Amino acid sequence: MAATAADQDAIALLKADHRKVEELFASFEKARGAERKQTLVQQICTELTVHTIIEEEIFYPACKGAVEEDLLDEAYVEHDGAKVLIAELLGSEPDEAFYDAKVKVLSEQIEHHVEEEEKRSEGMFAQARKAGLDMDALGDQMRARKEALTAKFESEGLPPPETRSFAGHDLVEGEPVDEEDSAPAPEAPEQRP
Ligand SMILES: [Fe+2]
Ligand SMILES: [Fe+2]
Repeated sequence: MAATAADQDAIALLKADHRKVEELFASFEKARGAERKQTLVQQICTELTVHTIIEEEIFYPACKGAVEEDLLDEAYVEHDGAKVLIAELLGSEPDEAFYDAKVKVLSEQIEHHVEEEEKRSEGMFAQARKAGLDMDALGDQMRARKEALTAKFESEGLPPPETRSFAGHDLVEGEPVDEEDSAPAPEAPEQRP
């Protein structure tokens, strides 16, 4: 029998979150209709937001010194990369251009990130386990934080994602790709006398 949620240590809790979001992405692939898609995306964004917060506030800091520094740094940057797409999805409607593509690319980014965390022997979780982190205590801390965040987001709605590793980015929204004619007309070559 599967362990009940209250018995889960840190790694079991984080892995259960990963499986849940994978299921939601799989449901999105099969989903039809704007309302259903929007519901799933709202769930995906909520799950990912809570998950990234508990990792960034509790699990990743505990991994500092126990897990290869590069791997940990990349994890923060991968989280921040995902937050750009999460913010984008929260601000768009399923019938808008690129909506499905944004969900697909987010799912691919998350798939890669989860692999880096769960990879056998050299993944982040394996390294953390090997270093002897107290997974029961971390599990309890993350479960409590997760419950509080979920309740907060249910009552107040999802806040805009906060990045932790990005500094000084300055995104400019350029002209949208023309859906009717996605191959842009080549610019006329500069006339030289
Ligand atoms: Fe994770
Ligand atoms: Fe993560």
